[in-house]
Amino acid sequence: KQELQHRAYKASGVSYEESLRVTQLVPCLYKRLGYELGCEKLSQLFYDAVFEDTENVWFLNIFVSSTKREAVENQYRFFVQIFGGPDLYKQKKGKYTRLVGRHAAYPIGHTAADHWVKHMEDAMNEHPNLNKLHKSNNDDNDNNNKNDNNNRMNENNIIETKEAMRLYFRYTAHYIVVAKEYMRDDQLSGGTGVDEGRVW
Ligand code: HEM
Repeated sequence: KQELQHRAYKASGVSYEESLRVTQLVPCLYKRLGYELGCEKLSQLFYDAVFEDTENVWFLNIFVSSTKREAVENQYRFFVQIFGGPDLYKQKKGKYTRLVGRHAAYPIGHTAADHWVKHMEDAMNEHPNLNKLHKSNNDDNDNNNKNDNNNRMNENNIIETKEAMRLYFRYTAHYIVVAKEYMRDDQLSGGTGVDEGRVW
């Protein structure tokens, strides 16, 4: 387990401990993202970009057997669950998230992990609730000073949230790549497998 975590750290530049930072924001993270709709928005933005990424056919090809709709559905249910909402992923896919096992069939190396993370960072930057230019409903009042305070606080929250998410995504993407090598055949189809060295 420790060797795996170390290899994921080597590949991603993010330590296991840093990837855990996101857990400290749960369940607030779910609220900050905008509940179920906000999680769905993140996945929609992400997969819109992935399926339009025709310049990187090698990456797009990883997703040939998926429809965009199904991919969004699976991913956003996972985000709702791990970021502090109801267990929508479990309801559809069963008790274990098994991220490593579920990705094992796809040709995913570290270059693909980097590219995945880049798309996810773009999606975060485009997300209305993670964008500092976005005005939330809370700011919609007549008091200018209060407005300023709200904006500043929101901006700090946004920076903190995005950084924690970025560290989590980066570590996990590379963890998925290295952990695959450690899986036994019987772990590829069921159980938790080698998921212990990552969060969720
Ligand atoms: C599913 C690719 C990293 C979460 C998938 C699928 C592909 C894929 C091709 C199948 C799409 C479908 O659901 O039909 C990749 C690649 C990655 C990567 C190339 C780069 C390393 C990640 C990371 C996370 C994640 C870092 C979470 C933090 C998920 C989830 C599913 C999924 C929850 C749905 C699995 C299922 O229920 O069957 N991914 N992924 N992926 N991915 Fe990834």
